[in-house]
Amino acid sequence: MKTTKREALAWARMLSLAVALSVLLTCCAAQTLDVDGDKIVEVLTRLANFSDHENPAVTRILFTPNDMLARKFVKDLMREANLVIREDPMGNIFGRWEGSDPTAPVVLTGSHTDAIPQAGMYDGTVGVIGAIEAVAALQRAGFRPARPLEVLMFSSEEPTRFGLSCSGSRALAGALREEELEGRRDAEGRHYLQVANEVGYGAASTSQLLATSRLPPGAVAHFVELHIEQGPLLEREGVSIGVVTAIAAPSALEVVFAGEGGHAGGQLMPDRNDAGLAGAELALAVEAAVLATGAADTVGTTGTFEVAPGAVNSVPREARLGIDIRDIDGPRRDGVVAAVLAAAQEIAEKRKVRLSSRVLNQDPPATCHPDIVEAVAGAAQQLGLASRRLVSRAYHDALFMARVAPTGMIFIPCRNGWSHRPDEFASPADIANGVRVLALTLARLAGGEWAKSEL
Ligand code: GLV
Ligand code: MN
Ligand code: MN
Repeated sequence: MKTTKREALAWARMLSLAVALSVLLTCCAAQTLDVDGDKIVEVLTRLANFSDHENPAVTRILFTPNDMLARKFVKDLMREANLVIREDPMGNIFGRWEGSDPTAPVVLTGSHTDAIPQAGMYDGTVGVIGAIEAVAALQRAGFRPARPLEVLMFSSEEPTRFGLSCSGSRALAGALREEELEGRRDAEGRHYLQVANEVGYGAASTSQLLATSRLPPGAVAHFVELHIEQGPLLEREGVSIGVVTAIAAPSALEVVFAGEGGHAGGQLMPDRNDAGLAGAELALAVEAAVLATGAADTVGTTGTFEVAPGAVNSVPREARLGIDIRDIDGPRRDGVVAAVLAAAQEIAEKRKVRLSSRVLNQDPPATCHPDIVEAVAGAAQQLGLASRRLVSRAYHDALFMARVAPTGMIFIPCRNGWSHRPDEFASPADIANGVRVLALTLARLAGGEWAKSEL
């Protein structure tokens, strides 16, 4: 069929009118996205009460009574937001808002509510409570999603109970092996399956637990996580929104040096093989190997350092170090891991101590998907909020979701960049900004219609 020049012009005009109308509808809706930061903080404060330590400290360990109470609290909020709840055997909780195309892949958003010992009340929780509030704000604004939208509360992002971070998201992404999960025990020697079964999750076997929790291929269209920055940049620069471009991944090492020990007075210095000093040298070698990269995004921490027998008048017989090395550049991080292991070998030979070491995990870092980076930056701009791109040096469930779907993250400022401590704080205004950006990002990713009445 031949199209005349006049017809082509008319089509072009209609198309630009439609685009302008949709931009106008979205802009108007953005203005009416009412999100109350004080109300969200009030909900976060109620959630913080489910804690093994008294507030402001928050301690909430996987599948403990307080974790179960927090789960019920979150599910009640999801129900209030008219979300349909589903839970998987790992304990991941999903709240679904059906799309006009229920068969379309889902747009997922969420984070975690577990908290390491003596943490604060914002890490993870802002991305769960904030996601429920983002969905509620979209509902109030008359938005109807084309793709289904789901809010997700991940099980055990923190490694506290089983020494395994991001258990829920690893399982969803199919990135958790049966032997790995079975090999992890809690302080009472029980494994994930046992404890999950006791609290009403779980399955007949670990292999079934993992098989039934894994997301089917292509099930997720996009994943976005809202989180406090846990670093100082946004606050320092007075920027409201961080658009995350990459997520660093940690490698965790356990290194044990063993010597003969002995009497702190009686044993002469030349006769010693002091495991504590070998450990001290290694902690310094970690710092040196990290600094040698010259990259600000490479970080390394000797976070645990135990000596045995641990008496002031005894030469340490054993030193056990827990080392965490992170980067957004996988090969560079792995280079530091190799350098640290080589240094451990050298130190052991020099100090005549025995060495054993284990690489506990070495997950690859993730790059955020450009579509989501653009959607988040666009949403911030539409709301008139200053944003900047940055990397996440902390890990998140998004690290594993990036393996199965285009993934991105939204950061908001937190006071002094503090996190994992009781005085962690994000202001109601910053939280509200993050939730509004999340809501608009979800609307962009899900597609759909805004109520015409918004005009
Ligand atoms: C997560 O809590 C991390 O340690 O990055
Ligand atoms: Mn954390
Ligand atoms: Mn977190």
